[in-house]
Amino acid sequence: MDPQSSAAATVVPRETVTLIDNSTDKRVELPLLDGTLGPKVIDIRKLYSLTGLFTYDPGYTSTGSCESKITFIDGDEGILIHRGYPIEDLAEHSDFMEVCYLLLYGELPTAEQKEKFEHDITMHTMLHEQLTYLFRGFRRDAHPMAIMCGVVGALSAFYHDSTDITDPHQRMVASYRLIAKMPTIAAMAYKFSLGQPFIYPRNDLKYAENFLYMIFAVPCEEYTVSPVLARAMDRIFILHADHEQNASTSTVRLAGSSGANPFACIAAGIASLWGPAHGGANEAVLNMLQEIGSKDRISEYIKRAKDRDDPFRLMGFGHRVYKNYDPRAAVMQKVCHEVLDDPSVRDEPLLELAMELERIALEDDYFIKKKLYPNVDFYSGITLRAMGFPTSMFTVLFALARTVGWIAQWKEMIEDSSQKIGRPRQIYTGYAKRPYVPLHQRG
Ligand code: SDX
Repeated sequence: MDPQSSAAATVVPRETVTLIDNSTDKRVELPLLDGTLGPKVIDIRKLYSLTGLFTYDPGYTSTGSCESKITFIDGDEGILIHRGYPIEDLAEHSDFMEVCYLLLYGELPTAEQKEKFEHDITMHTMLHEQLTYLFRGFRRDAHPMAIMCGVVGALSAFYHDSTDITDPHQRMVASYRLIAKMPTIAAMAYKFSLGQPFIYPRNDLKYAENFLYMIFAVPCEEYTVSPVLARAMDRIFILHADHEQNASTSTVRLAGSSGANPFACIAAGIASLWGPAHGGANEAVLNMLQEIGSKDRISEYIKRAKDRDDPFRLMGFGHRVYKNYDPRAAVMQKVCHEVLDDPSVRDEPLLELAMELERIALEDDYFIKKKLYPNVDFYSGITLRAMGFPTSMFTVLFALARTVGWIAQWKEMIEDSSQKIGRPRQIYTGYAKRPYVPLHQRG
């Protein structure tokens, strides 16, 4: 089937662009596709067959990898919408379970749909009991992201009845299982690092509340989750749920394009998210603030961040797409203040240091010219630490929340009749063909 007709079912080529190869004077017309929002795209799927030419864009700064209806970001305006709804509205008026439904199914649920969705997710929160032995194979001081990668990948060894990606029912069951079990796995990774017993999920608690219960409860006494912290956790999950074709989502899509099972694809996404340039930045922000230590050392670190010969970057600042304030960072800062205003939360001296660092950076020419603003990671770490999480759990929480985005994008790709296995090409700059030299003839 001609990809032109199926993949672009909702994007119709209206105009064309002409590419002229001056080295051969060859000209080729390429369709210009128009989405609902955002830049037009040049459809280059036939470029190689028509011209024998590749394109080259190693960081995908100007390259669209897919058609999607899930999330749109306007980096210049600092806009983020999920299925058309602005992130600010969802963070203010919605909750994470409703956002999960929206991302998966494309519409906000009715009261009945939401109740059934939450019930179904709740019924999947427990882990196969034998998986608890897998945790014991790790060292106690293993980074929880290493445990997440291993355990999530291992889910495909336990849930064989939801690995057939051609079966819509199995795709749905796998999606629900992943959304439901990530909090349980994350909490188990945390408890394992403490040497404390695992706490089972409770069916009478809401998603974020249940997660905090599994993290902070111990078997020896009653534990009640603070409603302020539960609401903050839920909003933090909303802010991290999905974000177009970022590195980890693209990893999930690429892994899924080969037909790999959803558990393996999500494990690949977790691995990609772990990097400090991506989801690992929230942990890196905290480590950076602790290293800076006091306001009088801020200028030293701003200077280092601007020095091209110094690999140090201001963690939590800058973004491939946002050249304006990350709308999630603005909400995150609000949530941070709400958490720190809660009497049950200990004081967080790093907040003042972070706000002073932000103020100085935003007034600095270098950051202004390069349009470097705080991103979602800048305030999330401070908030999570104030909530009682160790730094090593920050990216785990990001992965927990982003699982719904990964699986919604994976589902969209699988259901796209034009999708093919992802197989980028390259520009080769190595040796041309040369004869083999036997060992005894080498210098
Ligand atoms: C996330 O893609 C997503 O959507 C990701 C994410 C999501 O929700 O999935 O939003 C989550 O990953 C947020 C980003 C978290 N990472 C950090 O906070 C790490 C610090 N930020 C940088 O590493 C950087 O800003 C990136 C990786 C986020 C973006 O890098 P780009 O797009 O490749 O930009 P770049 O490196 O080309 O930077 C452009 C210029 C460079 O200077 P020049 O070479 O042009 O002279 O800006 C400079 C960079 O040196 N620069 C910084 C900087 N970020 C960019 N200089 C100092 N401090 C920084 N933080």
